[in-house]
Amino acid sequence: MRSVVFAAVVAMLGLTGSAFAADKPIVIKFPHVVSEATPKGQGAKRLQELVQQRLAGKVVVEVYPNSSLMGDDESMEALALGDIQMIALSLSKFDRLTKKFQLFDLPFLFGDLTAVERFQQSPAGQGLLHELEGKGYLGLAYWHNGLKQFTANRALHLPKDASGLKFRIQESDVLLAQFRAVDANPQKMALGEVYQALQTGAIDAQENTWSNIYTQKYYEVQKFATESNHGVIDYMVTVNTSFWQGLPADIRTELEAIVKQVSQEVNAKAAAIDAGDRDRVLATGKIQLVALSADERAQWVKAMEPVWNKFRPQIGDELLNAAVAANKPIN
Ligand code: SIN
Repeated sequence: MRSVVFAAVVAMLGLTGSAFAADKPIVIKFPHVVSEATPKGQGAKRLQELVQQRLAGKVVVEVYPNSSLMGDDESMEALALGDIQMIALSLSKFDRLTKKFQLFDLPFLFGDLTAVERFQQSPAGQGLLHELEGKGYLGLAYWHNGLKQFTANRALHLPKDASGLKFRIQESDVLLAQFRAVDANPQKMALGEVYQALQTGAIDAQENTWSNIYTQKYYEVQKFATESNHGVIDYMVTVNTSFWQGLPADIRTELEAIVKQVSQEVNAKAAAIDAGDRDRVLATGKIQLVALSADERAQWVKAMEPVWNKFRPQIGDELLNAAVAANKPIN
């Protein structure tokens, strides 16, 4: 991939963003693909607001929501090239840069967002923020969204109900394997194209969090939502390594403090946004909730179990064990 090669060259040469003009504010372009009402949308706005308050005249954050500047694939490349300065892509989308991030897509890995938080704050989780530093992508923090649910035009109670359905997935080989494990037909697609693909019948189904299901209005074009909580969509707030390291030290320190504050705020309210959007989706009366019995859920877990074995060698036991352990509080 061109961006990776570019980033590697930049990293090797040790180029820094030292060419900041003293009389002009440093611009941080931060595009994303979701609504401003989602956890990520709110986080990006809050970051912009705090930078305006604390670094006025020195730094300006420009936020571009709803794929209005570019989609996620393009933004990964644009960050490496220095055309934009910050992204917060779904963790699934880093799959192409490192196999270790495939961990986050393993089906039924985390029981809830508390477990996700525990893993992300563990030494293993914090280490992953630096995994791509040498390739030009420095992770500053994790932001939560929520656990994923299935939506479809068919009620999905059991894995066999998914058979033959065309599912939109994010750019992730784990998600590809997850749907193949239940004989479905997964298709990688940018978020911005999903509504229309569901509307026209180009795809039959998708998986996402309640906040994305609500704000992308999938309830208008899907008949059933299965509350499966089978995976997670979370984000890594990421900057170009050279850009970040080249910032004047006082500015970088202040930006780090702002990112830390915003991350705490986003992560403290993500679960409430998720629950509220679940209620809002169901209140539309346009989509029917499928609740899984314990036995039905166990059948999904079993059907998707081979995915773990397929990806375990490339993720590594150490990381996988740390993530599994995060389901239990340490005491
Ligand atoms: C996002 O939440 O940023 C997008 C996730 C997706 O592509 O489904």
